[in-house]
Amino acid sequence: MTLIAFELSGEHPDIPVAEVIGALESEDIEFSIQYRFDQVLIVDISNANTNENTDQVYHVDLVSKLSKRLALTWHIINVLGISDSTLPDIMNMVEDVDFDEPASLTYKVRAKKIKRKSPISSEDIERKIGGVLYNKGYRADLVDPDVRYRAILTDGKCIFGRVLASVDRGSFEDRKPQNKPFFYPGVLMPRLARSLVNIARCGPGSIILDPYCGTGGILVEAGLMGAVTLGCDVQRKILLGARMNLDLYVPDHSLMFQDAGNMALKDSCIDCVVTDPPYGRSALIQARSLDILMERSLKEIFRVLRPGGRAVVVSECPVEEWAVSANFSVVDVYIQRVHRSLTRRITVLDKLQ
Ligand SMILES: C[S@@+](CC[C@H](N)C(=O)[O-])C[C@H]1O[C@@H](n2cnc3c(N)ncnc32)[C@H](O)[C@@H]1O
Repeated sequence: MTLIAFELSGEHPDIPVAEVIGALESEDIEFSIQYRFDQVLIVDISNANTNENTDQVYHVDLVSKLSKRLALTWHIINVLGISDSTLPDIMNMVEDVDFDEPASLTYKVRAKKIKRKSPISSEDIERKIGGVLYNKGYRADLVDPDVRYRAILTDGKCIFGRVLASVDRGSFEDRKPQNKPFFYPGVLMPRLARSLVNIARCGPGSIILDPYCGTGGILVEAGLMGAVTLGCDVQRKILLGARMNLDLYVPDHSLMFQDAGNMALKDSCIDCVVTDPPYGRSALIQARSLDILMERSLKEIFRVLRPGGRAVVVSECPVEEWAVSANFSVVDVYIQRVHRSLTRRITVLDKLQ
């Protein structure tokens, strides 16, 4: 078994998990979910080696790709052991690990308590695991270690492993809407936009459409992953702004001035759709009503999507009824509280083959 743990952001209980699954599926990686704990998803990818490379090379390549795609994962970890979360259990488990790194490599151990649930202090765990490694001949380097180990305490378990890759959170921060050439309030933050693009199973070479593209935030995240991006909006000023933003990050993009309820696109020409239509609050709605617009645009999204394609729609009101009448199959609905007066719904829709 090759167990890989994804240490997840705690912003939402399900969206980070769905993001990992979407990314694995879009990379065509064979995997099976082994455990799901609070903020940790563990999958087995031992059957994923489908090319002629050695397991090791293939898995390193895979993890590196995933760490560049994911937004709501903190670390990707090669699981070396799982135990109950008492100190004696953790120590027994770590003692039994067959560390195969050369003794010349230095290490650092970090312990993370999810939601501070465990009564044991993180420092204690780090020190004790460090002691086991020391006794096995390894030396610590707290500043620039060769190998980073992590012990995650969650749901009464300790997941111990070697960090394979960490997600670069700073790059998402750099792309926050206020830092882009064209800013308009009320847009999705890059990390959420990226996670939705992953949930839509968008990957390098996929054709992604955002029929309500606004300032282009969703398309920037998809384009940075190598997708072919197409955006539509009904405000020329906004489309010019989207162009400024996309030019900076994804110079090769397409934008169209058109109504999401009547798109000049061929049937089945799009691989995936991720979109954040107006909610009927501040963003302009170009239609007789939001209901009519949503009903028409979901039909259009279904028409232009290829069979087997997926749409992820952000809304304030439920869209399932319109989606089902457009022939979509509803996969999931995630509810996300944004602030006191706004709760978002993220609806995942499949156009079945
Ligand atoms: C909530 S904003 C999208 C925000 C976007 N996710 C971003 O990152 O900027 C909704 C957008 O839908 C556009 N819109 C309104 N009615 C439309 C229609 N009938 N067809 C296409 N776009 C429309 C608005 O001009 C607005 O830019």
